[in-house]
Amino acid sequence: MAINKVKGTYDVLPQESYLWQALEEKIRYILGLYNIREMRTPIMEYSEVFHRQSELSDMVTKETYDFDDRGDRRLTLRPEGTAGIIRSYVENKLYASQELEKVYYIGPNFRYERPQKGRYRQFYQFGVEAIGAIDPSLDAELIILAYDFIKRLGLKGVRVRINSLGDDVSRENYQKALVDHFTPHASSLCEDCQLRLHKNPLRILDCKIDGNHEAVKHAPTPQDYLTEEARSYFKAVLDHLNAAKISYEIAPKLVRGLDYYSHTVFEIEADIEGFGAQNVLGGGGRYQKLVKELGGPDLGGIGFAFGMERLLLALEAENVNFAKESELDAYVIVFDQKHKTLATKILYDLRQANLNVDTNFTGKSFKAQLKQALRYQAKYLIIIGEEEFNKGVVGIKNTQTEVQEEVLVSKVCKYLKEKMEK
Ligand code: HAM
Repeated sequence: MAINKVKGTYDVLPQESYLWQALEEKIRYILGLYNIREMRTPIMEYSEVFHRQSELSDMVTKETYDFDDRGDRRLTLRPEGTAGIIRSYVENKLYASQELEKVYYIGPNFRYERPQKGRYRQFYQFGVEAIGAIDPSLDAELIILAYDFIKRLGLKGVRVRINSLGDDVSRENYQKALVDHFTPHASSLCEDCQLRLHKNPLRILDCKIDGNHEAVKHAPTPQDYLTEEARSYFKAVLDHLNAAKISYEIAPKLVRGLDYYSHTVFEIEADIEGFGAQNVLGGGGRYQKLVKELGGPDLGGIGFAFGMERLLLALEAENVNFAKESELDAYVIVFDQKHKTLATKILYDLRQANLNVDTNFTGKSFKAQLKQALRYQAKYLIIIGEEEFNKGVVGIKNTQTEVQEEVLVSKVCKYLKEKMEK
């Protein structure tokens, strides 16, 4: 019996991989413009990288893939990129250079969520982290980058939503205000939220069960509890965004679904029908305690991540033509299988000349070979027939103009190279 893929995972099939490659190419190109280098960290980490005392989000407490390896080490498949990057930043003492470390990453993450369109158990993120500084211009730089990225992809109708959770004092005051606000409603909140009320009231705001509860709808927002300092920090971030003429909206209720954030938080949201919560293409924010919590110095950072599947779905839904499947320069066709050795020689020579070429390997009829060549959108057909073979020539046909010429075997490379240059 055939074995199926794991629930919530998917395969990228050969006919769609060019879309992923094009997206990754775009990412690498744009990140180059911002002088950001790639970093690659393992998919599995010791569990404590993610399961930290201060992190009580659903994502970390309920959705991680945790397991013991054969040496009884407790490991977790990463549910997000940031914590692993910070673990590595600390372990490799990247802070020692005193420089701001700006990195990006592309890779799979794992969350045990209820799968649906745009939500998977294994999904890819492209993310950026700028670690080692706190400065409003840096917060703005990352928001500008996220905005620029979406613009360059060609996605329209995308909104950048921003908020501030403020510094420690602001957050503490806000948490108190939330406790005061929710306590009279405690008995009508879900079981989890009743616990959250004491442990981490902020998480009530993004509870999937209590989302429509009146008390959640009318909860106080972080903005009302910002200290003067935090308020002016946020204003400075917005001044930078205004200077770059970035369109954004302030979203007073935005708190994000992870516990490591303080100060600036933001999300990039599309408006595609039927997408629901999956309209959130990406999000991020500032984290001031994570580096220290993972054993490093008292340094802050800011970052964001986009879900790659959601980006591809949004591009498809908006009919954005951002990638083209590669075409073949030439396809070699033989009338008779006994001429395949000549085909092998020609293919090798053409590849040495950096042309992308192919042939049929399954002994198909002439007609079937032709069909395959057209499916690969070959610009030229190199046809080896009996008569031509005996004369030491091949027929080369331009599939657009349908003009066919006889070319000496020894001149095939030169002929095609010249044609390609035109
Ligand atoms: P996040 O909001 O949990 O943030 O995830 C970022 C993006 O990943 C989401 O906006 C969504 O597009 C995508 N995503 C999340 N879960 C799934 C899923 N199950 N299936 C498909 N796509 C998904 C973070 O992960 C933070 N680490 C972002 C960050 C970086 N903050 C600071 N630095």
